[in-house]
Amino acid sequence: MIRGSIKLNNIERYAGGYDISQEKIQNAIKRATDKLYSIAERLGYDKFPTGESENPKLYSPGPNDNWICGMYTGSFLLAYELTGDKKFLDVATKHMETYIERMDKKIKVGDHDVGFVYIPSCVAYYKVTGDERVRKLALEAAEYLYSYSFSQKGGFIIRASWRKHEEWACRTMMDTMMNIPLFYWAWQETGDQKFYDAANSQVDITERLLMRADGSSYHHYQFDVETHAPVKGLTFQGNRDESTWSRGHAWGISGFPIAYSYNGDENLLLLHRDAVYYMLDHLPEDYVPYWDYDFTDGDEPRDSSAGVISVCGLLEACKYLGDNAPEKQIYKNAALKILDSVIDNYAGDIGEPYDGLVAHVAGAVPLGLGLDICTTYGDFFYLEALLRMVKPDWKRYW
Ligand code: GLY
Repeated sequence: MIRGSIKLNNIERYAGGYDISQEKIQNAIKRATDKLYSIAERLGYDKFPTGESENPKLYSPGPNDNWICGMYTGSFLLAYELTGDKKFLDVATKHMETYIERMDKKIKVGDHDVGFVYIPSCVAYYKVTGDERVRKLALEAAEYLYSYSFSQKGGFIIRASWRKHEEWACRTMMDTMMNIPLFYWAWQETGDQKFYDAANSQVDITERLLMRADGSSYHHYQFDVETHAPVKGLTFQGNRDESTWSRGHAWGISGFPIAYSYNGDENLLLLHRDAVYYMLDHLPEDYVPYWDYDFTDGDEPRDSSAGVISVCGLLEACKYLGDNAPEKQIYKNAALKILDSVIDNYAGDIGEPYDGLVAHVAGAVPLGLGLDICTTYGDFFYLEALLRMVKPDWKRYW
């Protein structure tokens, strides 16, 4: 498929120069990091938010046992890098014992989201501290992702490999663009080619099957349960099979430039631009996505996490574009407009108490789960976006 041909219809919304003052960014950092620490004090330093309290905007303490835990640990590492205050690193250090226990008990090691668990926590902790024990743990996680969830026949990460003989499970998904950095990292650390090839194969499948010609994306892609041959695109968390689930799309907008940083495939930057232009043409007035790009106004739930994840992907892509690339200023303006709106409207006073660093995140709307919640993927990517603003040369965890 020819990529890079999508035009931005509402280019004037993203033209010119846009800025957020340093003072505003610093206030946002202080508010977010203070709040993060107060959450740890309340939940307990070795506990994780479950989001299972009656009010889905408030966190209750639970064990390290699901896909959102890694981004909670990662938030403390980002806060440490943002503030230099060791108390944040100390919380992440306490968390490391829970990852060792989690691996010992083999909790969800056969899950497609192993990357989401181990990249922002253990890979990040290793990058920040050089702790060898944690490096080994993350490499072990990469082996599990490869041996349990990567289909040799189909060349993709299977959504729920433990049930792969059932149709609902034999799928791959946009989210996986943020799991494969675990393969790229493991390849860099060990030189084992199988990780590099698996990651590139997932990128290829995402480009050919999950990304549509107009720059929009399917959330899921169905494969034949026996042969693992492609069947059709469909959705799980989006509004309909042919729509574009905004967080799924954001995983691509963040994941494509990261994949490019490892494999240098120029086509990925064109694919990324198509995906970005599709998003920019579907942002509502305040620049923060609804939960699905079918919606650009009205009362449908927002997904501020899709906004901040996309900000990170836009800023990451800017690192690889020359100063003369016309899209570079567009990406920067768009990233700043989204982030500014999140700071003003989603991370400040929203008229009710909430624990997250950002409010109005959407969970899985069609399943009736988490229509308007706070959760760690909102929090982590908000902090990552703020860190990218103050340290553009920050050493990425992904
Ligand atoms: N990985 C699932 C989600 O983004 O909700």
